[in-house]
Order: sequence, then structure tokens, then C-alpha cells
Amino acid sequence: MPEPPYDLVVIGSGPGGYVAAIRAAQLGLKTACVEKYPSLGGTCLNVGCIPSKALLDSSEHFWNVRHDLEAHGIRASAELDLATMLARKDRVVNDLTRGVEGLFRKNRVERVTGTGRIASPGVVEVRGAEGRRMLSTTRILIATGSKPVALPGIAIDDRRIVHSTHALNLPEVPKRMQVIGAGAIGLELGSVWMRLGSEVTVLEQMDRVVPGMDRGSGALLQRSLETQGMKFRLGVTVRAARRVGEEVLVEVAEAGATREEVCDVLLVAVGRRPYTDELGAREAGVELDAHGRIQVDERYQTRVPGIFAIGDVIAGPMLAHKAEEEGIAAVERMAGHAGHVAYECVPNVVYTWPELASVGLTEEQAAERGLAVSIGTFPFLANGRARAMGEREGQVKILADARTDRILGAHILGPRASDLIAELATAMEMGASAEDVARSVHAHPTLPEAVKEAALAVAKRALHI
Ligand code: FAD
Ligand code: NAI
Repeated sequence: MPEPPYDLVVIGSGPGGYVAAIRAAQLGLKTACVEKYPSLGGTCLNVGCIPSKALLDSSEHFWNVRHDLEAHGIRASAELDLATMLARKDRVVNDLTRGVEGLFRKNRVERVTGTGRIASPGVVEVRGAEGRRMLSTTRILIATGSKPVALPGIAIDDRRIVHSTHALNLPEVPKRMQVIGAGAIGLELGSVWMRLGSEVTVLEQMDRVVPGMDRGSGALLQRSLETQGMKFRLGVTVRAARRVGEEVLVEVAEAGATREEVCDVLLVAVGRRPYTDELGAREAGVELDAHGRIQVDERYQTRVPGIFAIGDVIAGPMLAHKAEEEGIAAVERMAGHAGHVAYECVPNVVYTWPELASVGLTEEQAAERGLAVSIGTFPFLANGRARAMGEREGQVKILADARTDRILGAHILGPRASDLIAELATAMEMGASAEDVARSVHAHPTLPEAVKEAALAVAKRALHI
């Protein structure tokens, strides 16, 4: 039998798929990456991480001019040019997706445009504008990602009743916006439109915002967003919603009663589901769990030899960097190396202002595992750089094993928490103790000094509080 022309065919070019393809090519595997959309980069680059952050950054400038500059002695007024803001976001996306094309060329990853379907364990059928093509390969890596979850009784119309993709492109600032779900998407995109002038109300079924994250930090974030004008209704369920003319009628159940409310745009942000439509995975013998996630072993191999899966389409947090690390680990193991993902050290960030970032265990999770922890906290109110910036809210919280002092988790609410969490994620990867971080020299005056002080506070010897 002749060798198949490809060592690896990756289906999907999101952060999981494209990074896996590049790493595989670096390791000498002849690799193709199949993507059904004309632009590479998947959810993350096209309709996720990047456009949302571009709008968060733009709307933050707008907000700062209106609310924060005066305190710095700068009098300025701001007028919104939404079309330009959206066009800038599109340019950022376009530049980055073109960048992935360049990386594919540089690394000799073959890009195949069309919808991929597993015809058999060694064959991917691709249907695209140029017709049908069969790719024979030794291995297949499924990296087909996820799509938004729909709610029964709520039909998305892409205009007034929307999910995240359309909330990145609203043609005008809605006067009243309701958001179902106080998760990352609800709070980030809710923040964008609130900063641009919308009255935003978030409807959440649980009794807290960002339910998977540290409870105390989530409560502080909620308070902070409320101060900015965002409204929260917790413990409520949306039964149905329908468009009436240019408005949306939302049926909300709260404390045993149901009533109809009106808004101009309803954003449904209640999670994402693994995406395996048209893939032929099940037919090829790949096993899916009750949530539709592809089941894999520790090598990311499905129960069908030669078919692997990574990223949002398998279990675990739906995060771009988790997908990337899995892609790298999967192909490194295919090539005989020792790929590994330290799942306990995967950071998670909500890019509101202040930002909420976490890594490792929460207090609740530590208690569930019967772990005794020492906790150190330090408020940004007492950090010189934060005060110079005009930032007073939030804190760094570090959880360390009470017996060994090893860092088990960290939760930061505050300015640039997304950047600050990296130090603690790295410390956890290295098995560092709170003492290790506390004794490391941190430049002054910087926000990371708050991390050092929280590490000192674990041993009850913070210096500046
Ligand atoms: P995806 O990025 O979903 O890529 C899958 C790709 O596969 C897609 O391009 C799809 O078209 C393609 N595909 C699917 N089926 C086929 C097929 N049969 N044939 C060919 N191609 C196919 N995560 C973060 O870590 N940080 C953030 O700040 C962040 N912000 C987000 C903001 C929003 C609004 C959203 C929606 C998500 C955000 N995420 C964020 C989540 C992040 O986008 C995902 O976790 C990440 O994109 C998952 O990567 P993936 O490679 O598994 O899949
Ligand atoms: P999510 O799972 O983060 O949050 C969904 C929220 O909706 C939860 O709080 C849940 O309790 C609530 N909810 C579910 N059903 C509901 C209902 N019927 N009524 C009211 N509330 C309901 O999902 P989200 O925000 O849609 O994001 C999807 C995925 O994308 C997440 O897994 C997230 O990790 C990822 N993402 C990551 C970002 C980041 O890393 N900054 C940004 C945006 C998305």
C-alpha cells in the first residue's frame, strides 16, 4: 500500500486547529488544514476573542473620555462614530486572519477551503466552491469548535434577537439591551454596548454572575459594573421572546411570576455547544458524550484509531488558549514527543473593566476537596501604580496549600488582571509556593506589586496594608 499523501489532516482552523497544524508542520508532518469559511482563525479570530476585545478597547476609550479624563485634568468631549469603530474592529480581524494565512505559507501547511467530512478513518472528503476532493491521510484531527447554544422559545433573527456574532456588529447603539446570561460573553458584550450608551440589563438564572469563577470576586465585579450603570437580575428565567415591530417582548419568570418586558435588542449568551454538524464523526465510529462533546483519551485520540480531537469540541473550558495547548500536545504526541496540558493552570479571564482573571482552584473547590488553604488578599486601593492610574477597585487573592504553601489558585479583579494572572499561572506551572512569589523582586511602581503583596499576605506579612 502506498503511504497516504498527508500525515495529518486538521479539520477546522480555529486557535486549536491552526496552531496544531503549524506545530505538526514544524515537527515534519505533512499537514493540511480544512476550513469551511473563506477566512482562517475560527471563532476566536473572526467572531470571538479578537473582535470582542477590539470593541472592548474602543469602547473603553470612549468611556474614559466621557467619565475618567476630567479627573486627570483633561477636558474633552466624545462623539461616537460607530461605523468607524466597527470598521476598525474588522480591520484588526482581517489583519490577524491574513497573518494566519502567512503562517501557513511559511510553515508549508496546505490550506484546503471547504466543508470537511470524515468519509472513513483515513479519508476526509472536502466539499467547497471548487467541487469535491478526497484527502487521504494517516491521521485526522477534529478541531471544529463550537456554536452558540439556542434557547427554546427564542428564535434568533440576527437583528433584534441576536447571539454574540451579531452583537459584534449592531448597526446602531440599542437604547435598551437585555442580555440573557451573566457569563463571559454577556458581561463583555454587555459592557461594550453599555459604554457606548445602551441601558443594559443582564438576566441570569443563577444567584451570581460568572458562576464558574470565584464567588467573592464575581460579587465585586457585579458591584463595579452596577456602578457603571449595568443592571443585574439574578435568579430569573427567560421563558420566551419574540419580535414585535422594532422591539422585542421578553417573557421573564421571576419569584414565581411571569411578566413581559420590552427591549430593543436581546442578546442570548447562555453558552456554546460543541460543533460536529456535517462532520460524519459519529458515522465513522467516534463517540460523543451526552453534551455532544467528542470523547478522547489522554493522547486526544477518539475511540477510532487515527482520529483525534481537541479544543471546544471536546470537554473542558471553551477557551482559545486551552484549544491551542491541546492542539500542540496532541500533535507532539503524534510525533513521538511528550505533549502535555496542565489543566489546573489554565487561566480564565473576563475582559470587563475591571477585568476578572483566575487560575486554579476557587475557595469553594478547595473546600469541596477537603484542602486546607491559607488565603492572602491585597487591594488595588493600596497599590501605588493603580492609584496613579486612577484605579481603586478590586484585589488580588491567592490561595496556597496551608501545609506546603504551594499556590493552588489565584483570583484577580482589577486593572489589567488579564496580564497579571500570567505570573501566577506560570508560578503554578512551576509548582511555586506563595513564598517564592513573595520573595521575587517586582519592579516599582507596577500593578504586579499587588500580586507580590497578596503572596506576602498569605503569610500575614503584607507590607503596604
Ligand atoms: P473554533 O475557534 O470554533 O474553530 C473551529 C473552526 O472549525 C471554525 O473556523 C469552523 O468554521 C471550522 N469548522 C467546523 N466544522 C467544519 C467542517 N466540517 N469543515 C471545515 N471546517 C469546519 N476564548 C478565550 O480564550 N479568550 C477570549 O477572550 C474569548 N472571547 C470570546 C468571545 C466571543 C464572543 C466568543 C464567541 C468566544 C470567545 N472565546 C474566547 C472562546 C474561543 O473563541 C473558543 O474557545 C476558541 O475559538 C475555540 O477554538 P477551537 O479551535 O476549538 O474552535
Ligand atoms: P457561559 O457559560 O460563560 O455563561 C452563560 C451564562 O448563562 C451562565 O451564567 C448561565 O448560568 C447562564 N444561563 C444559561 N441558561 C440561562 C437561561 N436560560 N436564562 C438565564 N441565564 C442562563 O457562556 P457564554 O458567556 O455564552 O460564553 C460561551 C463560551 O465562550 C464560554 O465557555 C466562555 O468560556 C467562552 N468565552 C470566553 C471569553 C473569555 O475568555 N474572555 C469571552 C467570551 C466567551
